[in-house]
Amino acid sequence: ATVDAHVEILLDESIGIIAPEIYGQFTEQLGGVIYDGVWVGEGSSTPNVHGIRKEIVDCLKQIHVPVIRWPGGCFADSYDWRDGIGPRKDRPTRTNFWADDPDARRLSGNAVQLYENNAFGTDEFIRFCHLSGAQPYLASNLRSLPAMEFSRWVEYCNSPAGSTTLAKQRAANGSAEPYNVKYWGVGNESWGCGGNFEPGEYAEEFRRFTTWVPHYGVPLSYVGSGPNDNNLEWTNGFFEALRRKNYMPRELRGWSVHYYTWNLSMGQTNDWVAGKRDALDFDETGWYELFLQGLYMEDIVRAQWGLLGEFDPSRNIKLVVDEYGAWYKPGTQLDPTHMLGQQVTLRDALLTAMTLDIFNRHAEKVGMAACAQLINNLNALFFSHEDKFITTPVFHVFDMYAAHQGGQSLRANFSSPEVHYQRNGKTASLAGLLGSASLTGKTVTLTATNPDLKEPRVTEIVLRGSAKIASAEASVLTNTDMHAHNTFEMPNTVQLKKHAIEVQGDGLTITIPAASVSRIAIQLA
Ligand code: AHR
Repeated sequence: ATVDAHVEILLDESIGIIAPEIYGQFTEQLGGVIYDGVWVGEGSSTPNVHGIRKEIVDCLKQIHVPVIRWPGGCFADSYDWRDGIGPRKDRPTRTNFWADDPDARRLSGNAVQLYENNAFGTDEFIRFCHLSGAQPYLASNLRSLPAMEFSRWVEYCNSPAGSTTLAKQRAANGSAEPYNVKYWGVGNESWGCGGNFEPGEYAEEFRRFTTWVPHYGVPLSYVGSGPNDNNLEWTNGFFEALRRKNYMPRELRGWSVHYYTWNLSMGQTNDWVAGKRDALDFDETGWYELFLQGLYMEDIVRAQWGLLGEFDPSRNIKLVVDEYGAWYKPGTQLDPTHMLGQQVTLRDALLTAMTLDIFNRHAEKVGMAACAQLINNLNALFFSHEDKFITTPVFHVFDMYAAHQGGQSLRANFSSPEVHYQRNGKTASLAGLLGSASLTGKTVTLTATNPDLKEPRVTEIVLRGSAKIASAEASVLTNTDMHAHNTFEMPNTVQLKKHAIEVQGDGLTITIPAASVSRIAIQLA
């Protein structure tokens, strides 16, 4: 077959180290994420470690999960961390944040979790992180708790063994040793569910929360509640307000970005739910349109980074994309109680891969990210219900891409024919091959997506630099059906397969299938 696509990897042009933390995950106390997802309870017949579902821990170890964010999301700004510690029988039952959301019933198809019994709290979450090999990233409540409670949560987690009353309480709850939690979100979506603040107001709260927090020798990293999508006014307003007060704590190391791929742009409705389209019922246009919207992430990263540089020229603050993924209307969730649950298809795997490639390509800008959300929710890696558990196509992407973690991001040039499709009677186009490359030791990892539903890309890959290729292997995630997805009954419809690749001197040739995500591991001599 004739070569019609090229990838040139520049071994001597490093963009920066790919922070392992960009392969992070997000778990919110919402729908089926924690209850029926991560947490099955200690007495459960489902295999578990201290109440935590064992299969999820095993899968997270497989993909080297670096960091997990909790307890929200919007839930975080209604959460009192004290409700979730101590003997479970004594923990209070509260009204769940999501039960009070005016859109909740509409959003979830009526299956709202009304009450939160707090069976899963800080100690359970930290144990989940330890078992999975992840660092915890806690999102604090800035809207409805005072700044003192933020300090006290840090004290509970990090004060040395036997030191404070809270350290003794932690010991009584199972851990004399401190948790040394480094990552702290200072509020969540403070422009919306986190308080409906103006940027200047949020900056004031941020100052109150972050001034003089005890460190106990832990290099705390605060993540400020950044923009929705690419809202530059929010970013500008917040940092201007900090600048006026000459306040820029060194612990402010992250600025969050939330960007969901809503699939709204075909413009038929502005209804917040219906407009999100369906996870399973889509046509060719819907397939391509999702990617076009997802690729907007790259514009956000560039624009927000550019603006941040005006306030932080030394580049202490990195972007933290701690919520991203496809978000569809309700109706395809595997269990009705899984609020914001939805099926996850091959299309979502390509979207996720494209997003991770963007983060890799901007390794010097993106310091952390979290896919929303880990299980039974939105762009999930897993589905579970009672003792049933399966992986989704998105899990396979994280499995393929784990090899990039900690590598040097390399500049790589992709060229291929564009994909053309019809949108509202006009022809729209999309790049035909996209991806990223990294170097770890003597291994070059190249990941690439081919969004074209019909055309495979016969791709020639060349390495520019002095190294010689010793060997190469490839794996691919694809299916002939663009709607392909996994279910409890058919858990392996979309799965990773080995793929042929030919080494020819200084180059490689591979046929990248239509509608696929590929990973190529190249060993240098
Ligand atoms: O991930 C679901 C919700 O989306 C989160 O709670 C919130 O932060 C965002 O709006």
